[in-house]
Amino acid sequence: MIIISPSLLSCDFAKMGAEVKRMEEGGAQWMHIDVMDGHFVPNITIGAPVLKSLKKDMNSVADVHLMITDPLKYVEDFAKAGADYITFHVESDSDPLETINKIRELGCKPSISVKPKTPAEAIFPYLELVDMVLVMTVEPGFGGQSFMEDMMPKVKAIREECEKRGLHDMHIEVDGGISSDTIATAAKAGANVFVSGSAIFKAPDAKAIITELKEKAAV
Ligand code: DX5
Ligand code: ZN
Repeated sequence: MIIISPSLLSCDFAKMGAEVKRMEEGGAQWMHIDVMDGHFVPNITIGAPVLKSLKKDMNSVADVHLMITDPLKYVEDFAKAGADYITFHVESDSDPLETINKIRELGCKPSISVKPKTPAEAIFPYLELVDMVLVMTVEPGFGGQSFMEDMMPKVKAIREECEKRGLHDMHIEVDGGISSDTIATAAKAGANVFVSGSAIFKAPDAKAIITELKEKAAV
């Protein structure tokens, strides 16, 4: 199943609620929420109270991406605020097993992410325990960077490992530089959930760009 998850990092923060609606009307099934703490990554973005407000009028799946040093400490806040998927980084300071279990206990779907320099094998011990793997296709921290095509062997290796283990329903998400020029490459490598920030939000017509992305991902 092909899923488009617009990254709200690229929207006008003063119009976030309206932008969520516009994306949903355009056909986006998920909404990607980038949480940055100014420590794990240099930037600071938004926290759980913003998600809680958005959720009052949101029909899409809340896809929370924690780029923070200690996710274990904050997953409860995001679960209570209405997160559906919670992604944390294997490179963070929290114990991955404990973090996955806590996310599951809170009723959310756990997802584990790797930065560009982290090999696929780093998340192999956790594959049976998560619903999604997020492969970063840029260095996390900022929107609008160029897609790293050299991450495709990593996507492929994770998809192959999942298939080998019978994990046929695993979502593999890619995040960073996804546009109508790059989405097919990521889809061919095995990704099925596509985060896109600047490419979607700079387009004048949300429905047109989301439809185009879905079509190009169908390879
Ligand atoms: C980067 C964030 C991404 C970012 C993607 O650290 O995790 O979600 O918003 O933005 P684009 O699509 O512009 O690369
Ligand atoms: Zn993200």
